Amino acid sequence: MAMQISPSILAADFANLEREIGRISSADWAHVDVMDGHFVPNLTLGLPVVQALAEVSPVPLDVHLMIEDPDRWAAQYADAGARSVTFHVEAAADVVATARSIREAGARAAIALKPDTSFAGYADMLAEVDMVLVMTVEPGFGGQSFMADQMDKVTQVREAVDRAGVPVWIQVDGGVSADTIETCAQAGADVFVAGSAVYGQQDPAAAVERLRSQAQASGGGAPAR
Ligand code: DX5
Ligand code: ZN
Repeated sequence: MAMQISPSILAADFANLEREIGRISSADWAHVDVMDGHFVPNLTLGLPVVQALAEVSPVPLDVHLMIEDPDRWAAQYADAGARSVTFHVEAAADVVATARSIREAGARAAIALKPDTSFAGYADMLAEVDMVLVMTVEPGFGGQSFMADQMDKVTQVREAVDRAGVPVWIQVDGGVSADTIETCAQAGADVFVAGSAVYGQQDPAAAVERLRSQAQASGGGAPAR
């Protein structure tokens, strides 16, 4: 299974976003956290900034929407140039329709689950999505401690994906670092978001390579594909 790293630019210098996104050219994706000050108690950036980043990023944008009413906004992030758009099931009125709107706009569609949200209700929607994000912190801020108790959920998603035989990626986000990435990979994750663990290093591109090798070396029990 290919292991992918998606560094979160939330941990980057916001006064120099073009330079900062250029420092992770070894990554598979650039993770962009969109927060609206309502769904989460923090406010970051929106459509115009995503559009500008899409033009200068060396890697495709993996946009993580932490906003209310994603039904209305999600496809617009695909139109703005994001290649993957993730929205929270807790905020969506119609999860399937929102996922379809993202795919119709040409991007990969993904659903995110907060730590208290169980996967059970969404297992039958796997054909409608390209990725499931299991949050390993409460969304809203970078630099929080990893929640190991979310690993059971990662394994549940992995089992459901393999059982269904669908090409759905499993992402973890929050507190992912050299200390925790192996646990995530063993539980079944294959896309790893890391903010502070990448941008907190002198050489972010090298940190990406190290994290990917670690994940690859410990890569779970899931079948290769
Ligand atoms: C949190 C964000 C994360 C955050 C991760 O709500 O979704 O993407 O940037 O930051 P670290 O890796 O520092 O926990
Ligand atoms: Zn995120």
